[in-house]
Amino acid sequence: MTDRSAAERATVEVIRSAAQMQDAFGIRFRVFVEEQHVPIEEEVDAFDDRPGDREDVVQVLVRLDGAPAATARLLLGHRDPTADAYPHVGRVAVLADHRGTGLGRVVMDALHREARTRGERGITLSAQLHAIPFYERLGYVARGPVYLDAGIEHRDMDYVFED
Ligand code: COA
Repeated sequence: MTDRSAAERATVEVIRSAAQMQDAFGIRFRVFVEEQHVPIEEEVDAFDDRPGDREDVVQVLVRLDGAPAATARLLLGHRDPTADAYPHVGRVAVLADHRGTGLGRVVMDALHREARTRGERGITLSAQLHAIPFYERLGYVARGPVYLDAGIEHRDMDYVFED
C-alpha cells in the first residue's frame, strides 16, 4: 500500500543556499547518474550555478521528515519557441523509496506555483517516455516525435495553466 501521508508530511523549500543545492544534487546523483546512467558531466550544468543568486532558475527541494526526498528545477530563461515560449521544467526526481507516494506531484505543484507567481501561462518539459503517464495525471499533453537525450527516449509535453 502506498504511503499517501507522505505528501501531507512533506515540506517544500525554494533552494537558496549551497547546502540545499548539495541535498538536491544528492537526489539527482542517485536517480539520474546511478539509476539511469546519465554521465555526471551532463547531469550538472551551468543552470545549477549560484542557486540563491539568480532570477532565471528556480530549484525546489522536498523533504520528508527532514530528509531530502525529491527535487526539480524551473528554467525561466530557457524557452522552447514552439511551445508558446513557456519556461522549462527539468531534473524532476523522487528517490526510489518514496515513489508512488505523491511527492512527484508535490514537487511539480511547487514549480507550477512559482511559475504562476511570475505571470507565466504554462510549462513545457522533455519527458522520459516512462514518465509520460505521470505528467498526464498533472495535466500535461504530449506533442511531437520521440527523440534521444542522454541516450534516453523523450517526448516534449506542455501544460497550459487554467485561469
Ligand atoms: N504511470 C502511471 N501513473 C503514474 C506513474 C506512472 N509511471 N507515476 C506516477 N503516476 C501517477 C500516480 O498514480 C499519481 O496519480 P494520482 O495522484 O491520480 O493518484 C500521480 O501520477 C502522481 O504520482 P506521484 O506519486 O506524485 O509520482 P512519483 O512521486 O512516483 O514521481 C517520477 C514520479 C516520474 C518523478 C518518479 O517516478 C521519478 O523520480 N522517476 C525517476 C526520475 C525520472 O525519470 N524523472 C522524470 C524525468 S522526465
